[in-house]
Amino acid sequence: MTSEPDLQPTAPDGDLETATVPEDAALPETTTDPEDAAGLPGAGRRRGPLRAGERVQLTDSKGRLYTVLLTVDGYFQSQRGSFRHTELIGRPEGTVLTTATGHELLALRPLLSDYVLSMPRGAAVVYPKDAGQIVQMGDIFPGATVVEAGVGSGALSMSLLSAVGERGHLISVERREDFADIAIGNVESWFGGPHPAWEVRTGDLADVLPDAVEPGSVDRMVLDMLAPWENLAVAADALTPGGVLTAYVATTTQLSRFVEDLRATEQFTEPQAWESMVRTWHVQGLAVRPDHRMIGHTGFLVTTRRLAPGHVPPQRTRRPAKGAYPADGEWSPVDVGERAVSDKKIRRVRRDIHRRAEMEQTGMASQPGPTAQPGSPSQPSQPSAATPDEA
Ligand SMILES: C[S@@+](CC[C@H](N)C(=O)[O-])C[C@H]1O[C@@H](n2cnc3c(N)ncnc32)[C@H](O)[C@@H]1O
Repeated sequence: MTSEPDLQPTAPDGDLETATVPEDAALPETTTDPEDAAGLPGAGRRRGPLRAGERVQLTDSKGRLYTVLLTVDGYFQSQRGSFRHTELIGRPEGTVLTTATGHELLALRPLLSDYVLSMPRGAAVVYPKDAGQIVQMGDIFPGATVVEAGVGSGALSMSLLSAVGERGHLISVERREDFADIAIGNVESWFGGPHPAWEVRTGDLADVLPDAVEPGSVDRMVLDMLAPWENLAVAADALTPGGVLTAYVATTTQLSRFVEDLRATEQFTEPQAWESMVRTWHVQGLAVRPDHRMIGHTGFLVTTRRLAPGHVPPQRTRRPAKGAYPADGEWSPVDVGERAVSDKKIRRVRRDIHRRAEMEQTGMASQPGPTAQPGSPSQPSQPSAATPDEA
């Protein structure tokens, strides 16, 4: 489950007005790229001159984005001017059109990251920065057999399909028929038709997976759902030894539950957990600084690997902190990873504070006492918590 990030101001296709082109207008031919015919889904659609039936992203002088589906009889209309789609069809990407009102519009095919953020969605999507992390850290490789659940709106499916390629196999499981339908629509629209490596199954992962794959046959698995810990048993059965399991969760409570339940199975390696933050920059002349706004949170990622059947994780030499798993259910500062502060240190801090108060009242530097910091006899020592060697 993922949180919903802010979207770019991309107008959905449905907001755009179309009008019929006069009959005498020259209609350019639509072309079929030989690579599409050769079975490289989507590759041909992303090169060459702009064609009817393709999606184009327009950027106006204020940086506003409009997504347009080019049609031979289409007409684009906005506050920044209007034009017939035929004026763009057959032109190269990167064309800058000047409308009758003198406004300039830059036309480019959307990138996958643009498309994911502007496509219709049922469930929240995996944000592009996280999809990149999942493909890289989940080690999704060309030709791999990958299982993904849930499918949601199909955003991650597109990155996974691009990574496994047409010789791979992506089995995407979604418990909601309506979401699966939205995902299929989005993915097929992006690739220009069904992807030969994609199989969508509807139902609960725990029910569907044992019938969908042979035990130990799945190379990589990605779980993006509310309760991924409910599927650890089927994941362990399906994954090949050494196979990578990645989970994407929105909250720390989900993260904790998943990691602890995963450890308890003793079928996986010690998990790694992290999040990524991307800060965009404003770079103009001397004004070079981070943008004021950023997407502060999307989700947490966890990866782990399947052990060989019958093997348990090696004993960890670095044991969990004392009290990390409280026996009595009560939480102490140590339970949540805070360091214990010794009584001696507390006494010293209190002395420091009294001495500082004395100096503030008298305006006199205190005499270096037995606890003063070496090398700074005339300076009051700060409360001890600030000295790094004691932290
Ligand atoms: C956040 S969405 C997934 C978004 C998707 N990864 C994307 O990028 O568009 C979570 C989806 O998991 C589905 N789901 C939750 N539990 C499931 C389960 N046990 N089996 C199959 N699908 C499940 C939900 O119906 C929902 O569509």
